[in-house]
Amino acid sequence: MAPPPVEKKSLRKIETTVGQNLETLIDPYEHDKQRVGTALVTWHQQYAELKQAEAKQNGSEGIVQSARLESLDREVSMMSSLLDDALGISIIGDTQPETELLQRLSTDDTFDGIGNLTAFLGYRLWREKNIFLFARNNKDSQDRYSTFREIVSPFIQESLVTLATLPEEGHTTLRETLEQLVTSQEKNIALEAIIDESTPPAVKLTLTVELMKTSGVVTTIESLLPHVESNPDVAQLVKTIQGSTGNEVMASLSSVYNAIEFQEYAVNNEDLTKREAQLIAFHVEAYAKKHNRDPHEVRIADIGAGTGRLAIALHHDGFDVTAFEYEQKHIQYMSETAPEMAVEEADWHHMPIESATVNSQSPEIFYCLGRTILHNNTPEKMARFFDEMHRILSDGGIGIIDIPNLREDDGSPEQYDQNITEFANHLASLGVRMEKSQNIFDGPDDDHRFNRMTLTNEQFKTYARLFGFTVEQTQVEQVGEDSQFENAYYTIKKQPNFEIADIPTNELLSMLYGSGLYHPGVDYNQHVDAWGVPLGTPFVYAQMLPGVIEDIREQEIAGTTSAIRVEVHNGSLTFRM
Ligand SMILES: C[S@@+](CC[C@H](N)C(=O)[O-])C[C@H]1O[C@@H](n2cnc3c(N)ncnc32)[C@H](O)[C@@H]1O
Repeated sequence: MAPPPVEKKSLRKIETTVGQNLETLIDPYEHDKQRVGTALVTWHQQYAELKQAEAKQNGSEGIVQSARLESLDREVSMMSSLLDDALGISIIGDTQPETELLQRLSTDDTFDGIGNLTAFLGYRLWREKNIFLFARNNKDSQDRYSTFREIVSPFIQESLVTLATLPEEGHTTLRETLEQLVTSQEKNIALEAIIDESTPPAVKLTLTVELMKTSGVVTTIESLLPHVESNPDVAQLVKTIQGSTGNEVMASLSSVYNAIEFQEYAVNNEDLTKREAQLIAFHVEAYAKKHNRDPHEVRIADIGAGTGRLAIALHHDGFDVTAFEYEQKHIQYMSETAPEMAVEEADWHHMPIESATVNSQSPEIFYCLGRTILHNNTPEKMARFFDEMHRILSDGGIGIIDIPNLREDDGSPEQYDQNITEFANHLASLGVRMEKSQNIFDGPDDDHRFNRMTLTNEQFKTYARLFGFTVEQTQVEQVGEDSQFENAYYTIKKQPNFEIADIPTNELLSMLYGSGLYHPGVDYNQHVDAWGVPLGTPFVYAQMLPGVIEDIREQEIAGTTSAIRVEVHNGSLTFRM
């Protein structure tokens, strides 16, 4: 089916149109890489000839002497610059001599062309993945891509290690290759190189630093965490990048909550719990009054209820509250402490509740307090949290969320400001510049720390607005044992008939960039319920013409949207659809 003609203006450079022939995919890496690719094709033709000649001479399959390979190497680097405009690259690596050659070259640190070779392989993998994404349900392109991935990934893995052992100049190519891996969602290849026990610790660190630069600090740390228990090198590596010298590395958020007794956490004292429960009750009553309802019948959801300090207080006051929590230990604690209260096991990114559009029993009020949204430690997770709340909450429903008040306006440093700066400074000492997000590495005590992310007040409003909420009220309160912290409590309301296309384009763009969602490694093809289109769509369409969004939404429903493809050069992304 031919997709409908799409009138659009580009956000960034968009050279392709929906439905374009695969063969003519315009490819930003093509110019540079074709040169290398052609050189390599020519090269292994020569290599095959050499091998044949040698086999003839020896009467057997011979091995090319390294001196001959070296001279060939020099010829090829000269050749590669001469072959600028040559056309056509065959899939390399699918025949025996080619794979042998790759094997040999990717582990040879005297080979001049290692950078070109690695970048080329990364590029080819990216391209195969994009052709597959473009053709979505096409089995042939999927098979072709999987085969290609299987063949080249061990070589990429080995040559990433080789590149990381080279001096600084090798790192540019390393980064370029990682950018291609990250945008084709193939970070695992780099990860495998890092966790491989034969990779020297210094190389592991170089690879990790470069990966953090391309795919994000927290995403990288979290991909390493599952390996810390079995791999002491990785545990040490994580310590180094977190900047925690003496502390134990916690393998997951669960291990943190299992190691501490959260119900004894000092900041959550009785006074704070009482004040917060009153705040929730106040909003429930206001909502009930407005909708002519009995406050005790309003459906309330506690999101990330912990050990239930707030849910239990409200339950005892006769409110209809359900506690949603994913930590078994906490679920058990609540079930034992308040056996009559509804407690549900849930991950707030995939709530076990039908969408409000079809659910007459959907929550009318949700709250997520105790600085709990900070567990959404990347912009992508934060976005999914807000989208999920929007999906389950009934129209006109209310959400109450707190974050630390960073007080960025009056300049006086809050505890969290210091924490953010401390973590950012430590990363800067490793050469990694922090993303737009306000990442912290902290915990209830020095031994049980984990990565979280907070938001500036401006960013909070951005997320609320992007996912169909209006900010109704903001209230700043002091919290903590000596009131040394400040919380900003936000009351947000689900906008009925929210339409992403109604946000003026220039505002939308600055919101998207300000949110931190513009970052290599983000999955732009994930569906956003509040928008009815994939996450990348608003990035692709600068002019959010309602008609265009409508077309894409129809294609989404029909399962015929073309995927969003992303390229990255020096951290700058180009989106295509
Ligand atoms: C800081 S505690 C706060 C608990 C409670 N809201 C309070 O104020 O006491 C955060 C809680 O969120 C839970 N949590 C973290 N990520 C979650 C997720 N994706 N889905 C559900 N609960 C989650 C944790 O297990 C933990 O119990």
